[in-house]
Amino acid sequence: MKINGKPYRTIWLNEKNKDKVCIVDQTKLPHEFVIAELSTANDFTRAIKEMQVRGAILIGAAAAYGIYVAALEAPRVAGFDAFVQAAADKLKATRPTAVNLAWAIDRQLEKISHGHTVDEKISIAMSNAMAIAAKEEAACKKIGEHGLEVIKKISEAKGDEPVNILTHCNAGWLACVDYGTATAPIYAAFDHGINIHIWVDETRPWNQGARLTAWELGQHQVPHTVIADNTGGHLMQHGMVDLVMVGSDRTTRTGDVANKIGTYLKALAAQDNHIPFYVALPSSSFDWNMRDGVREIPIEERGGEEVRQIQGRCEGVIKSVLLTPENSPVANFGFDVTPARLISGLITERGICEANETGIQKMYPEHH
Ligand code: MRU
Repeated sequence: MKINGKPYRTIWLNEKNKDKVCIVDQTKLPHEFVIAELSTANDFTRAIKEMQVRGAILIGAAAAYGIYVAALEAPRVAGFDAFVQAAADKLKATRPTAVNLAWAIDRQLEKISHGHTVDEKISIAMSNAMAIAAKEEAACKKIGEHGLEVIKKISEAKGDEPVNILTHCNAGWLACVDYGTATAPIYAAFDHGINIHIWVDETRPWNQGARLTAWELGQHQVPHTVIADNTGGHLMQHGMVDLVMVGSDRTTRTGDVANKIGTYLKALAAQDNHIPFYVALPSSSFDWNMRDGVREIPIEERGGEEVRQIQGRCEGVIKSVLLTPENSPVANFGFDVTPARLISGLITERGICEANETGIQKMYPEHH
């Protein structure tokens, strides 16, 4: 992804000082583009909890780098493994819904366990964190290539008219290492000269759509319009949406999808209006141990201040203001589950499959 013409990933090792990891601080966007440096496992725990880094894939990649810096911090003589394990436990407890977090941490711990010395373990942790980031980047690029075909088909049927795609939350470059999941086909279609226009759900309470997706699309010059969260159904009823494309934080082996709160309502409206509803995800977002998404996927509940307040820029300064009566109780569920029956297809790095156990099994036979 290019920002002001310069290529960036969302996370990378500091070139000069490989003990530090650089991230794009997402709490400051879209008003300020700030690169932050993380150098302790606690830095990573805080950055994930406070959403300086967010989005299932980036959370996983960040946790992998978090284990690397934990290995650097750990005592060299006795207690190395216990220190790294404690850091892993803390990182795992930061956010419960995205399965990529545990996936990346378990991969790191498994690889490190093969090291014979502390130096070897540190070196494995560094190269494996980089490998996880690179693998996720490559997977998102492939998702873009497969998803492009879906957009191309709709565009061919529409002629000169733009393909209107609705997306929820930020399943973009910022939620991943590069390209995005739901946005990868969007960027691929735009780069192929296909006429597209994106409806961007604002995505209350944290406003990932209004703050991040709109910013990303703008950087890439993709035509888009930000809408209040409740607008999608109306647009669908009036033929103003051709396709819905979202990401996933956890998908069961039967195709149920947890994604940002509000995704389910968009899927219901899409089905009622016969509009294709696609979910884009890499293999790291599947939870092969779960079958029933509604019953089994842990749904994060975040602090009430995200609902009670709204953040924006006021006279050049980023501020939060109170939105609700001071004493009204609030609830803040971060995710919901869209049952597989509402999903037209899953766009993965291996291709597009049906959102059901048979379709997923054909795509990933090694997990069945
Ligand atoms: O709470 P967030 O901002 O981390 O939630 C992100 C999402 O819900 C994305 O849609 C999801 O991670 C899929 S894209 C990797």
